[in-house]
Amino acid sequence: MKTLTVFYSLTGHTEKLARAINEAAGGDLLEIKTAKSMPRGFLKYFVAGRQVMKKEQPELAVFDKNPNDYDLVFLGTPVWAGEFVPAVRSFLVRVMLKGKKAALFCAHGGDNPGKAFSDLENELAGNEIIGKIDFKMDGITAAQEAANIESAQKWARDLAKKVSN
Ligand SMILES: Cc1cc2nc3c(=O)[nH]c(=O)nc-3n(C[C@H](O)[C@H](O)[C@H](O)COP(=O)(O)O)c2cc1C
Repeated sequence: MKTLTVFYSLTGHTEKLARAINEAAGGDLLEIKTAKSMPRGFLKYFVAGRQVMKKEQPELAVFDKNPNDYDLVFLGTPVWAGEFVPAVRSFLVRVMLKGKKAALFCAHGGDNPGKAFSDLENELAGNEIIGKIDFKMDGITAAQEAANIESAQKWARDLAKKVSN
């Protein structure tokens, strides 16, 4: 069984989860990057908010793995304006994932993932969503972060085991 963990992360939280998931589930890791970098500071909220609202598909940097070559795909996104991020939309439109088992994870600063999962599920029609997990990653203690990482790893390990059986 081939497993891919693919993610976008602007400030490193989703990346931490993705690396931990990849370590637990095995397989390959792919970071989605935009061709143009996001502005720093407050301006990023404006640019990102507009991208989300207009369902924009920012241009991506070159990537070298095709999730269609894998059996199980873990897909991670931060939550922006209650949604999954535009770079993930660009990625999904580009790769047209079909017939895969997919497990979704996200990092957020508030109490819940908003519509990130439901909208991702719509975008991933034609695939089987076998798991979803979200973590509040902002403003937490090191112990809470370690607990989140541990839960993410257990979740990933269990799903990978289930799929390979
Ligand atoms: C442009 C922008 C919009 C955001 N909107 C939300 C939101 O609607 N709900 C929420 O819980 N967190 C929101 N956040 C917080 C991020 O989801 C949170 O910081 C997350 O941990 C970032 O993940 P990353 O470090 O992988 O980029 C937003 C952050 C940014 C930069």
